[in-house]
Amino acid sequence: VTALVVAMDGPSGSGKSSASRGVARALGLRYLDTGAMYRAITWWMLEHGVDVGDPQAVAARADAARLAITTDPEAPGVTVDGRDVSAEIRTQEVTSAVSAVSAVPQVRARLVAEQRAIIGDGDIVVEGRDIGSVVAPGAAVKVYLTASPEARARRRTAELTGTTLEAQRVAMARRDTLDSTRKADPLVMAADAIELDTTELNLEEVIAEVLRLVKERT
Ligand code: C5P
Repeated sequence: VTALVVAMDGPSGSGKSSASRGVARALGLRYLDTGAMYRAITWWMLEHGVDVGDPQAVAARADAARLAITTDPEAPGVTVDGRDVSAEIRTQEVTSAVSAVSAVPQVRARLVAEQRAIIGDGDIVVEGRDIGSVVAPGAAVKVYLTASPEARARRRTAELTGTTLEAQRVAMARRDTLDSTRKADPLVMAADAIELDTTELNLEEVIAEVLRLVKERT
């Protein structure tokens, strides 16, 4: 029996994080949130006064921060140079800057290598943007989650405080454009991924559908 890798890609607000954790829990697998790694590097850049609008400045510091991330779906968390930044990486400041940092090839090269090391022999659910296409192209199950722009903005607005539906819609459209038009590993659906539109589904239904796909493919 080969160890299982489940790749969960898609844009923000597609329900990726909750579904990925739920699938990992249900199957007793590890869970890796690769977005948290891009956010943690971004937090470090902001903390150290690096101009995130300057790709060369970001590239020069791409390897400077030491990251550690947990793979327990019950207790996800990330540290940078030993400091727990699990809450800090969810701020508006980090969210606005993360697309620029994650577009820098040196940052991607570093994190993709670390992600592959963590994935190792598998038994893991990995969520991100390029898992099925770049990080783990051999994954047994590749799911690409989508949802209507309205549903995605509604979910993000419910998660965050101090924002409006319209502000979320604009911010998400901006991040989508940056993520899907960047030169290095843009957000694309892997050719062999299964698209799952979550617009009309609740969390339990999304998890059940992914579990069905896992069963079918393993
Ligand atoms: O999933 P999350 O919204 O936390 O991801 C934050 C950002 O990190 C994305 O908007 C994207 O720019 C970047 N990212 C990426 N590749 C991944 C995961 C996240 O470029 N595998």
